[in-house]
Amino acid sequence: MEIDSQLEIACDEIIARYPQKRSAAMMIMHLIQEKFGYFDDTAICYAAKKLGIEPVDVYGMLSFYPMYSQKPRGRIHIKVCRTLSCALAGSIKLGTEISRITGCPMGETRGIYTIEFVECLGNCSHGANVQVNDRLFEKVAAEDAEKFVEKIKKLDADGELAPVSASEKPQGGDDFNSPSYMG
Ligand code: FES
Repeated sequence: MEIDSQLEIACDEIIARYPQKRSAAMMIMHLIQEKFGYFDDTAICYAAKKLGIEPVDVYGMLSFYPMYSQKPRGRIHIKVCRTLSCALAGSIKLGTEISRITGCPMGETRGIYTIEFVECLGNCSHGANVQVNDRLFEKVAAEDAEKFVEKIKKLDADGELAPVSASEKPQGGDDFNSPSYMG
């Protein structure tokens, strides 16, 4: 993992917005996650040095927040909510079906896919919710799993699943039942 001057400049610009370096921790970690896709020891030590904290503090955030990763992920990262509201809306079956269709075991990476069950995605009244990279899909039914995988393949081919920067993260979800998502 190579830390280039572009990353240095971007980190310095973010840190300069805060009265204390460590207050920029989440933003700096987003930046590193977006650039490399995961954190290795070099990235952990780099973030710690920039923020004036210990590597163990960076590791603590890394292991707590699911948006950061310690392993390389597939280009299409599928997170299926398994918390109560989504589970009642069929998310466990949905996740199992998506895993079967993509050939990617749950919790693992295969080819372009990483798939995992996650806890609440914060859109409980519109389950089942699935986040794919930076896009949230709501009201996805287990019986539509095949159609859903086809849809995300098409979005990927069209470049519509490319990561967006932390400051441009979209609000709300895409209703999978709306005409534009049923394809
Ligand atoms: S329970 Fe799934 S988004 Fe909250």
